[in-house]
Amino acid sequence: MKLGVFLPNGQNGYLLSNAAPQFEPSFQYMLDITQEAEGMGLDFILSMIKYRGFGGSTGYWDGCLDSINLASGLAARTSEIELFATVPVLGLHPAIAARQIATFNDIAKGRAGVNLVTGWNAPEYEPMGMWPGEDYYDRRYDYAAEYVEIMRALWRDGRVTYKGEFFQLDDATMFPTPGRYIPIVTAGQSPRGQKYTAEYSDYNFVFADRELLPQIVKPVQDMAKEAGRKVGTLPLYQIIAAETDEKAQARVDELVENADHEAIKNVMGSAAMDPQTGGTSKHFLDGLTADPEVGNATFMSFPVLHGSYETVAEKIISVDRDFKIPGMLMTFVDWVPDLKAFGEKILPLVREKTSVLQPA
Ligand SMILES: Cc1cc2nc3c(=O)[nH]c(=O)nc-3n(C[C@H](O)[C@H](O)[C@H](O)COP(=O)(O)O)c2cc1C
Repeated sequence: MKLGVFLPNGQNGYLLSNAAPQFEPSFQYMLDITQEAEGMGLDFILSMIKYRGFGGSTGYWDGCLDSINLASGLAARTSEIELFATVPVLGLHPAIAARQIATFNDIAKGRAGVNLVTGWNAPEYEPMGMWPGEDYYDRRYDYAAEYVEIMRALWRDGRVTYKGEFFQLDDATMFPTPGRYIPIVTAGQSPRGQKYTAEYSDYNFVFADRELLPQIVKPVQDMAKEAGRKVGTLPLYQIIAAETDEKAQARVDELVENADHEAIKNVMGSAAMDPQTGGTSKHFLDGLTADPEVGNATFMSFPVLHGSYETVAEKIISVDRDFKIPGMLMTFVDWVPDLKAFGEKILPLVREKTSVLQPA
């Protein structure tokens, strides 16, 4: 099982709480986190992109570093860890994105991957005049399918002629080609999103607790098999560990009690605009009242693995044992010290009982 870190390159990371550390993202901070992750032998980092934050008293995500630029800079300062940069299909033409990623992959000496996002959120793109309209909610994965076909053709052959519904290219070129297969992950949790992921991505990121996870892992595997492909599901978890279960629980409670209700209301407002059922938007809406273990809105509706260092290690081991997934993605509260504690106190226990890679 691979372990990755979801970098907090949006303001305040993934916590909508006045009790969380408040920060504006910077390259130095992202580098400190990435080098910490690389030093303990974690497998990958992933940076996100948001063009519009959710405000509130914490200014949640009001600032966000560009994902591809950031990942390229981190690539130049690391040597082992894989790096995934987010490509927003509404923000960049696929031929431009293909070239940016090929350049990033060159800087990374072959460690680059892509997180392809369809753009879930109309209020994020409308202010820039880049939201295609109401029916984009239903067509976003058709759009993404054409997008990926173009990127893949350019990476493979260096040129493409393409006559699609959304894109037309006439002998567009992109050299030098990366010379390797670039892995793509997509967060597609709705039924249409799962089908897209099975057909076009290599990994599927999901917000899913123990109950929901099996309902995604197997269908995506089966659909991928039908398409002659292999696709793994990677769940996302907020890690909150302390010396004892009680101390960790107190940290969880403090964050929830001091939740930024206005920013949460704004996230929910965006989620409610999405007519697709059964996907991430529904999970966000459920997060208003959900238990943190399932995914409370304070934690951006990511399920929380909390407890003593031993308890958290056991929870990670049980996810690996019970679901046989290829990996998971993690977020933290106070990033550098929490990640350090993860490396010193949790990772050795996880390594004893799972296939999580040993440090080189
Ligand atoms: C791990 C992870 C990373 C994500 N990164 C981004 C991102 O960087 N930018 C973005 O706009 N959306 C991001 N998303 C949100 C998804 O792209 C969005 O929820 C998508 O519309 C899911 O569609 P669904 O309704 O099919 O589940 C991310 C989601 C997950 C789980």
